[in-house]
Amino acid sequence: MVAARVPLIAGNWKMNLDHLQAIAFVQKLAWTLDEAKHDTAASEVAVFPPFTDLRSVQTLVEAEKFSIAYGAQDVSTHESGAFTGEISGSFLASLACSYVLVGHSERRQFHGETNDVVGAKVRAALSFGLVPILCVGETADDLEEFGASAVPVAQVKASLAGISADAEVVIAYEPVWAIGSGKAATEEQAELVCGALRETLRENFGSEFADRTRILYGGSVKASNIAAFMRQSNIDGALVGGASLDVAEFASIVRFYKHVI
Ligand code: 13P
Repeated sequence: MVAARVPLIAGNWKMNLDHLQAIAFVQKLAWTLDEAKHDTAASEVAVFPPFTDLRSVQTLVEAEKFSIAYGAQDVSTHESGAFTGEISGSFLASLACSYVLVGHSERRQFHGETNDVVGAKVRAALSFGLVPILCVGETADDLEEFGASAVPVAQVKASLAGISADAEVVIAYEPVWAIGSGKAATEEQAELVCGALRETLRENFGSEFADRTRILYGGSVKASNIAAFMRQSNIDGALVGGASLDVAEFASIVRFYKHVI
């Protein structure tokens, strides 16, 4: 029998909220979800604060036993050594991070991360017991030139090459043109690409891997459009940017199951 995929709603804070703001935010998010009687079995919630916030978030989550997972926005390909400014996956593991974002389009665009680098980051994360959330997506030019699925499918193939079929990874499909633009993909478009990504996982790692791996949609997700995405059979959650910085809005996205009909 195929195990059900627990939806994941992940908030990528990007370079927003310092450690004091992070404490206030996570506290408020936990209270809001608790007050709304959030069903933790219906969706998992995770936040991705800047590196400098992670210790504060860990301390709060552990002290209060909040059901909120957290992770980092990037990880080094190296374990340790002379790599100024880099953060090792071993450091993230020792802060009890569950996840790490890998290959976000802003890393690809502003830091020149290639599929090879992103693949090395996937492997580094796995080697420290972190679940990588591999971000893929086409630019507006790619969309015009190659259609919607070709680039994200190629990115997934290249960056997951060589990993074990037992590994746990999450894929986040984020069309670059939909990020921060207020112009989300339609649910049909997103489902088409997420379906193609699942078939790619099936061809490369087998059905068990494809059926249990969560595939998220990201790009201008809001409380008002999450339900339409979550109705699609190949979309298992969302990677949320701007709307994850507003407690009420993000909590409403986490509780999408209340507005999916
Ligand atoms: P927005 O939700 O602000 O479009 O950002 C999406 C994103 O990049 C999440 O990683």
